[in-house]
Amino acid sequence: NDKATGVVSYKAPSNIALVKYWGKKDHQIPANPSISFTLDHCATTTEVAYSKLEQAAGDFSFDLFFEGKSKEDFKPKIKTFLNRIEGYLPFLKSYHFIIRTSNSFPHSSGIASSASGMSALALCLMDLERELNPGMTDEYFNKKASFLARLGSGSACRSIEGDIIQWGNHKETQGSSDLYGIKYPYEVHEVFKDFQDTILLVDKGQKQVSSSVGHNLMHDHPFASRRFAQAHENLFKLQSVFEEGNLTEFIKIVESEALTLHAMMMTSMPYFILMKPNTLEIINKIWSFREASNTHICFTLDAGANVHVLYPAKEKDLVIQFIKDELVAYCENGQYICDKIGYGARKL
Ligand code: PMV
Repeated sequence: NDKATGVVSYKAPSNIALVKYWGKKDHQIPANPSISFTLDHCATTTEVAYSKLEQAAGDFSFDLFFEGKSKEDFKPKIKTFLNRIEGYLPFLKSYHFIIRTSNSFPHSSGIASSASGMSALALCLMDLERELNPGMTDEYFNKKASFLARLGSGSACRSIEGDIIQWGNHKETQGSSDLYGIKYPYEVHEVFKDFQDTILLVDKGQKQVSSSVGHNLMHDHPFASRRFAQAHENLFKLQSVFEEGNLTEFIKIVESEALTLHAMMMTSMPYFILMKPNTLEIINKIWSFREASNTHICFTLDAGANVHVLYPAKEKDLVIQFIKDELVAYCENGQYICDKIGYGARKL
């Protein structure tokens, strides 16, 4: 099979972890299993135009445009990714690629684009793989796309499908794997349908510590083994929480996971803090409001200062009003993004 030229484009979502991935082994193997809600609005759109070279090049041949502008400083990251996946996509050095990518969320909002970005690129390259080797099932396509995305950025393997994705070996979860994300295989109560995530942009600056540095600091971390065991326990607890729609227990697990992630950062050597004063102000406000309102609002955090506010769809009006009245004041330039659980990437 031969395919001389073509263009393919995918839109892939971001995701927000409930049980956090923090710590990894070689080849992007997670130190513990994690689970996330796929998002709907926050996404990366990537277009890949490919043309076959007369002769396979000695190195990867590609141009990269981010939001219309040539982006030399992103190239090393992409090159590392292509190097890691070449063994699984042997055609990579036989083509020249023009990669054009853009995000739905504001530039440098402190929202990591690595999950949606790597997943969108992995899907585009998988699409060419399917052109060259037709006949694969959609299941195989998605599994391999997730496998490849993982090699770009671990959490990216949870951004291929929706709406709840688990990644990492977990003996109590059937079909789970360290190599790719799987759709959550158990029953989920309808209270989680259309679950909302309003992302409060607390600090849009560049992170002082990258997530790859953070993962590596788990190697000699004094609490690592207990933390990894806790992630397994929390995932197991989530099975009945999801089935029964037990929001009280859901909140405990999700908030504890967020604070534990940041506690790992604060107790590594060197130690660091990614939360900002406004992150803590928001957390305290959320706790007061939850008690006063009888809603089921809770928060989670990524590796940064922004706060993800999670709540059931039927509480949306109340919570949005609260966010506008009390939380927006803590956001940089009053910025926040209304998102919700989503159903995965799609071809454009
Ligand atoms: O995918 P990475 O290497 O950027 O790691 C992401 C880690 C967290 O976002 C902090 C947690 C997670 O599970 O997504």
